[in-house]
Amino acid sequence: NKHIVSVSQFSRNELHLLFTVAQEMRLGVEREGCLDVLKGRVLCLMFFEPSTRTSSSFDTAMKRLGGQTVLISEAHSSTQKGESLEDTIRTLDQYGDAIVLRHPSDESANTAAKFSDRPIINAGNGSREHPTQAFLDLFTIREELGTVNGLTITFTGDLRYGRTVHSLCELLKHYNVTIQLVSPASLALPDKVRQTLKSRSQLGVVSTELTPEIIAKTDVLYCTRVQKERFEDPQLYEQVKNSLVVDNATLKHAKQNMIVMHPLPRNAEIAREVDDDPRAAYFRQMKYGMFVRMALLALVMTPVEEGKRRFSIV
Ligand code: CP
Repeated sequence: NKHIVSVSQFSRNELHLLFTVAQEMRLGVEREGCLDVLKGRVLCLMFFEPSTRTSSSFDTAMKRLGGQTVLISEAHSSTQKGESLEDTIRTLDQYGDAIVLRHPSDESANTAAKFSDRPIINAGNGSREHPTQAFLDLFTIREELGTVNGLTITFTGDLRYGRTVHSLCELLKHYNVTIQLVSPASLALPDKVRQTLKSRSQLGVVSTELTPEIIAKTDVLYCTRVQKERFEDPQLYEQVKNSLVVDNATLKHAKQNMIVMHPLPRNAEIAREVDDDPRAAYFRQMKYGMFVRMALLALVMTPVEEGKRRFSIV
């Protein structure tokens, strides 16, 4: 099937096909603005958690491919009348050609895939995964630094609840990288993920502070927001919310050719003064995301025979 539930479904070759098509999409948009690859197709955008980037980039990606979109938010859906996720998915299955789903439940993407004959694309399931963000993160690193292999990637912030970190750590199994982890102890990367990095010999320094030594080794500084919405105890959130802040003083110790990334939205973890530093890649990262989502939609929604012709799918 063509459901995109987890990054673990993707081989390195499939990733590279995705990135090649994303580069084609970038050239196509720069040349023509809009394409007709998905003309006549409809994408349902089902967002049951807030979103700016993921929802609007899927929306624009589909429109730039010549298709149309329908947006369903929880607040205006029959979920308010008690309808289950299964029945909502069964409904959209009748209308659209694919469904993009963001939902607070960790199980939502798998549940949706069971009840839909149309492709389900996971746009964030609870604190578990955010596959399309991880694809665009890797694409950003490749576009900005030329390669992923050989790099030191430092994750900072909320590594416990940050689903973008979980998905990217999983995808990095395809590359030769060193991963440094910086977070308050209560927001450490889940043990299982940390053990996986260790077993792949990818785990470098683990720290509660972003020291000059850690920064000096870093090629990609991947910052994340402390996810207030996932905390059961609001006091605990207050204690850790501003524990790690990257500012110009932090970057004094950094390499000239490193990049700062963030899936966004941000709170205080990256000072506004960093925005003017050319190493701040987080706004460029958003644009790469649209090309990657265009590529993914084209690959998922194009009939197999046509896809083979257009995108060299083997
Ligand atoms: N990166 C990301 O998922 O942003 P949104 O929550 O705005 O979609």
